[in-house]
Amino acid sequence: MLKGKTIVLGITGSIAAYKAVDVASQLTQSGAKVDVIMTEAATKFIAPLTFQTITGRPVVTNMFTLSSESEVEHISLATADIITIAPATANTIAKLASGIADDMLCATVLASKSPILIAPAMNVNMFENSITQDNLSRLKSRGFTIVGPVSGRLASGKKGLGRFANATDIIGSICQVLGDNGDLDGKHIVVTAGGTQEPIDPVRCITNRSSGKMGYALAEAARDRGAMVTLVTAPTSLTKPIGMEIVNICTAREMYQAVRVATSQTDVLIMAAAVADYCPLRELDEKIKRESTGLTLEMERTPDILVSIKGDFIKVGFAAESNNLVENARQKLQQKDIDLIVANDITSSDSGFCADDNRVTIIDREDRIDNFPLLPKREVADKILDRVAILLATKSKQQL
Ligand code: PMT
Repeated sequence: MLKGKTIVLGITGSIAAYKAVDVASQLTQSGAKVDVIMTEAATKFIAPLTFQTITGRPVVTNMFTLSSESEVEHISLATADIITIAPATANTIAKLASGIADDMLCATVLASKSPILIAPAMNVNMFENSITQDNLSRLKSRGFTIVGPVSGRLASGKKGLGRFANATDIIGSICQVLGDNGDLDGKHIVVTAGGTQEPIDPVRCITNRSSGKMGYALAEAARDRGAMVTLVTAPTSLTKPIGMEIVNICTAREMYQAVRVATSQTDVLIMAAAVADYCPLRELDEKIKRESTGLTLEMERTPDILVSIKGDFIKVGFAAESNNLVENARQKLQQKDIDLIVANDITSSDSGFCADDNRVTIIDREDRIDNFPLLPKREVADKILDRVAILLATKSKQQL
């Protein structure tokens, strides 16, 4: 997603400036070309050399330099794919809201037609001050995207709203902005993720090894292609992605209810979750004590979400198979009457449950079979969404 993108990262004079190193580093590692512009105040908090080393590119601190193409620097940088100001102080926000261009960063923003994203970071009183709030509203109404701030401990030692958003959320928002008008623009996609938990007693549950990585990768990839995403997630240790509706559930029945609500108006349902097929007949109020004899649990079937939730949307299912991959997946596609099935090869630990990568085969109703090698889950997600985009395009042609 970020590979080959040109990103201007503006740093202003906030104590959070050091946290922008992580943002610059992650963007650079993702393949983006990152040009850092620092205000004079920012250079008091952190040296330009740090950003130069991280991005491998010169850092601009001076209004009156020429770029390598002998263009005034703020004109050449203004054509970046996105300008991100992180952290943004109340002072820079005020200058931008008033159209003041007396430093290199503000001049670049004013000269630019690119999308602008800002991540404010400041003292809670400064942030809550009606002047700052008015300035932010003006920027929002002009199409700026604002990320954060979040609540937490501030440099003053006090707690409050003013803390710099985390790097994951800033980068997630950058991807979302860059993905506007992507091939899934305007589509609503519901994704499920993780392993459901079926309670036995107050401390025990039946679950499985799903980490949620595949579902989260799909949700993020769909968001970055312009879709509105609802992520229905079982408990996971993953950071909740920004820029989508998140519905937290535990049990298969709760997932069923959440998916039913979310699909009332959707274009696509992708069931990447590992849903329990059985749950204990009843959840005990008291913890089961250790006895000398064994223990028998009475179980009942959970609803099959893919089968029971019907509607005019594309259904994508997953099948994690340890043998007869294609044959078993094909059977699930037919039994569940779905449009695509993604068969995961779980014969080795580098693919499937918990792994960062997946080796999948995608099968459709016409029995077209696409085999893919072991790929990062984010790349697998894009392969699946490529197929979903084709199905959506075919469907809208048929409806004409
Ligand atoms: O979360 P990760 O660690 O990244 O791992 C990803 C994954 C391996 C869990 C995922 O890619 C995957 O394969 N999920 C489906 C696992 C599976 O084999 O499910 P199943 O055969 O029980 O179900 C087939 C399909 O029906 C699945 O899409 C499932 O979500 C759906 N289902 C299952 C049971 C149920 N009660 N309702 C359902 O809708």
